[in-house]
Amino acid sequence: MKPLLTDLVSTSDRPNVDEVTFDHSIPLVDLQHFDDGPNRSTVVRAIGDACRNYGFFQVKNHGVSKEVIGKMLHVSKQFFHLPESERLKNYSDDPMKTTRLSTSFNVRTENVSSWRDYLRLHCYPLEDYVHEWPTNPPSFREDTSEYCKITRRLAVRLLEAISESLDLERDYINSALGKHAQHMAINYYPPCPEPELTYGLPVHADPNAITILLQDEVPGLQVLKDGKWIAVNPIPYTFIVNIGDQIQVLSNDSYKSVLHRAVVNCKEERISIPTFYCPSTDAVMGPAPKLIDPLHHPPLYRNFSYSEYYHSFWKRGLNSETCLDMFKI
Ligand code: OGA
Ligand code: NI
Repeated sequence: MKPLLTDLVSTSDRPNVDEVTFDHSIPLVDLQHFDDGPNRSTVVRAIGDACRNYGFFQVKNHGVSKEVIGKMLHVSKQFFHLPESERLKNYSDDPMKTTRLSTSFNVRTENVSSWRDYLRLHCYPLEDYVHEWPTNPPSFREDTSEYCKITRRLAVRLLEAISESLDLERDYINSALGKHAQHMAINYYPPCPEPELTYGLPVHADPNAITILLQDEVPGLQVLKDGKWIAVNPIPYTFIVNIGDQIQVLSNDSYKSVLHRAVVNCKEERISIPTFYCPSTDAVMGPAPKLIDPLHHPPLYRNFSYSEYYHSFWKRGLNSETCLDMFKI
């Protein structure tokens, strides 16, 4: 279960540290008094600008308490510090399993391993999945359930703001996601003796609607902007939000699902906890009719079920970086 450092890592699969910018970051949006206050239109505009120009932003005053965040990070660390035999009770290499511990990205499709272990959980509707989750550490189910319920509320609010920023009805995206689904990963990146030889997570775009990422204080995330990699320095108790492939489709390319990756370091372990907010598997995705017109903005994607998209994403691995091309008209 230990990540394998292979000596077969070709140069193109190695992180290129020269291209990375450390003195520029992604926008930070303050959600204070956002819901019905006079601030709403300012916040909506800030989110729209961030989605258009970066595909990524950070949020503060988001309504998730320090206590809930602290417990989630703590229980995650405790899980990955359990003896290997205990952790391995959850192991599976089948990406369709709704609760599973795995390693790298997709061990069934990849040739090169990444320096990551991860626990992946489906978490909405909670009562359908919580009985599958680990019972060790003893507070795992309770702390994680609490975290999921609160991040779901944040996801719904952000999707309302994103709808408005596209000039769509406030609930347009939330309706388009059908019954909704929510997955999460707990990514564990152990210290790596040779970080220049591997990624924690190779370059990819997220297949879902939006991702809300919580991370500890150790940096590692990098985001592509105008051909350069921006290293994102963690700000405690903020979340990083990014547009996934489904919002790129729905917005007919107004907003881009931006490539990102995680690098590792030789000194400290790192934990990151993405919440992948998704359509339900039966939801039919496609460009919003209001954003297309045959002459100037023809639809760029065909309609598809999210289930079809999700299967394609896992089947093809991360080799070709983005799955969207397979759904273009
Ligand atoms: C992901 C992801 C980034 C990170 O899990 O999809 O992009 O910093 N994670 O771990
Ligand atoms: Ni990602």
